[in-house]
Amino acid sequence: MSSQIDHLLTETRRFAPPAAFAAAAVGTAELYERAAADREGFWADQARELHWHTPFTQTLDWSNPPFAKWFDDGELNVAYNCLDRHVEAGNGDRVALLWEGEPGDDRRVTYAELTDEVKRVANVLTELGIEAGDRVAIYMPMIPEAVAAMLAVARVGAVHSVVFGGFSADSLRTRIDDAGAKLVITADGGYRKGKVSPLKPAVDQALADRGSGPQQSVEHVLVVRRGGNDIEWTDGRDLWWHEVVPAASAEHEAQPFPAENPLFILYTSGTTGKPKGILHTSGGYLTQAAFTNRVVHDLHPETDVYWCTADIGWVTGHSYVTYGPLANGATQVLYEGTPDTPHPGRSWEIIQKYGVTIYYTAPTAIRSFMKVGRQVPAEFDLSSIRLLGSVGEPINPEAWMWYRSVLGGGEAPIVDTWWQTETGAIMISALPGVTEAKPGSAQVALPGISIDVVDENGGPVGEGNGGLLVITEPWPSMLRGIWGDPDRFVETYWAKFDSQGYYFAGDGARLDDDGDIWLMGRVDDVMNVSGHRLSTTEIESALVGNEAVAEAAVVGAADEATGQAVVAFCVIKQSYMTKHEELDGLVGELRAWVAQQIGAIARPRDVYLVTELPKTRSGKIMRRLLRDVAEGREVGDTTTLADTMVMSTISGQVTKK
Ligand code: WTA
Repeated sequence: MSSQIDHLLTETRRFAPPAAFAAAAVGTAELYERAAADREGFWADQARELHWHTPFTQTLDWSNPPFAKWFDDGELNVAYNCLDRHVEAGNGDRVALLWEGEPGDDRRVTYAELTDEVKRVANVLTELGIEAGDRVAIYMPMIPEAVAAMLAVARVGAVHSVVFGGFSADSLRTRIDDAGAKLVITADGGYRKGKVSPLKPAVDQALADRGSGPQQSVEHVLVVRRGGNDIEWTDGRDLWWHEVVPAASAEHEAQPFPAENPLFILYTSGTTGKPKGILHTSGGYLTQAAFTNRVVHDLHPETDVYWCTADIGWVTGHSYVTYGPLANGATQVLYEGTPDTPHPGRSWEIIQKYGVTIYYTAPTAIRSFMKVGRQVPAEFDLSSIRLLGSVGEPINPEAWMWYRSVLGGGEAPIVDTWWQTETGAIMISALPGVTEAKPGSAQVALPGISIDVVDENGGPVGEGNGGLLVITEPWPSMLRGIWGDPDRFVETYWAKFDSQGYYFAGDGARLDDDGDIWLMGRVDDVMNVSGHRLSTTEIESALVGNEAVAEAAVVGAADEATGQAVVAFCVIKQSYMTKHEELDGLVGELRAWVAQQIGAIARPRDVYLVTELPKTRSGKIMRRLLRDVAEGREVGDTTTLADTMVMSTISGQVTKK
């Protein structure tokens, strides 16, 4: 790793924005100056780009850190900002969503149509007893109704918890229970990889007998028909969207809610087994999501066709599919399926069909396109693209160069955007019309954002050195807490640099000699697989939940395609071994088990059956050593192990396989 880092830091290529691009860019150098002169005033100006039913008089209340309040005495309606105000400004006929189904069906939804739909859904929610502050779980495919559902929940001041459609019934159940959701909005199924992937059955399973579990909170399930797959029906609880939504009134006046009214909870993996419900509120979140979408993606809403490929189940889909672009009145592509179905050029076909000008995706996708080869995109007209974005993990310079030359016609600026579920919106990125781009570096903090790289004691490491990434000042779209667990919020993000009052992001970073930031990956037990966060502990607890497994240790090992891959080491129970003479097939079973428990994205690439795990004298598993084995390296320092021989045993068992 370190030789690779040194190599990265000697990267000398620089790419200035094309002159015409710079001349018309939304984000200018002046933004940095304004923000440096008056940070809070700068954010207040950005917030005033939104419509406030009641204007705020105070920008930031940081009197009780780390619990921030932004624009606290202001009132707004998030959905009104994303919908009605565009219609009222005469842009109702502008297309909001250019929706493309995986099988090739498509729909254009204008701002007026989306507003109408959201008003009806809002009326349905009210009829179902959903009030401000209530939680609604959304478990849906990428269809216009998913966006409408999020906005309708926001419109009535309730709180959505979107659960990625690839998650299992078990994961869905945990999230529904933790949030105490009253309603689940889902679909019968959606198209993925050429077939219908069922969703409603997982909801049924999640809501089925809880045994000694918490009190059933869910009163209704609202179901969109999309897949046409057979589903079971619980009368009185389940409702078809196509029956109740069109029948509801399209009259619905958006009510104002306080700026700090909770907008959504989004669960993400932490370092423990239990996912954290990251809580975001309204005014500050929408301000920063809209601002960053405008200046980082250089969005010109009248002319651009924008496409962010993220699923709404992830934070990128919240901030850069639903809230940022719609608050800005953008026209965007929404695609239901996978990028290689039914053919490897599917993404390029969509870009050509709609004339996409701004394309925002993840390095793992770029690497998979590279693997297929440049002859595939070469068959399509991609000349409409003028800006490319990357998110989710570090983008290696080779992928960066490929992205620019093959998709960007050799000149489109690339913005490498660093942020997290917790930060709510982009924090580190070039401004594409200002910054000279450097392949592989996320580069600089955005105007109004204060970032540093520090050592273990919180001291700045200075240019040319590496350390831990921290955010040194509160920002508008910062998480406001972990749902139901304020202590965990303080402990996880603020305790490490308590005396400085810094937010610790969990990422390692280096500053190069120009002061540009290079992200180096997580420094905790969180893995990043294909840009998705997974917790080692969460997968370990799934594994030990299997009857065969006594102990498990999981590490993220470097992987060419997915960035990191899940590698599991399992000690099998003696009782299981005596019952089953052959362990053949167990590895496959354990991989499938994890997929079923958590979701397919968590399925381990490798499972190794070992007789022991490396532990310190105090019993802590030394994952660092297992990572050495998983990545085929010589095993590092083993002197703190309780049994120094254990690593040679493990290495023997792994290579024998
Ligand atoms: C990583 C996704 C390097 C990082 C928006 C962070 C990145 C985690 C980048 C958050 C990037 C995200 N360069 N690393 N441009 N973007 N990361 O919560 O480790 O799913 O902490 O949010 O992804 O993942 P999350």
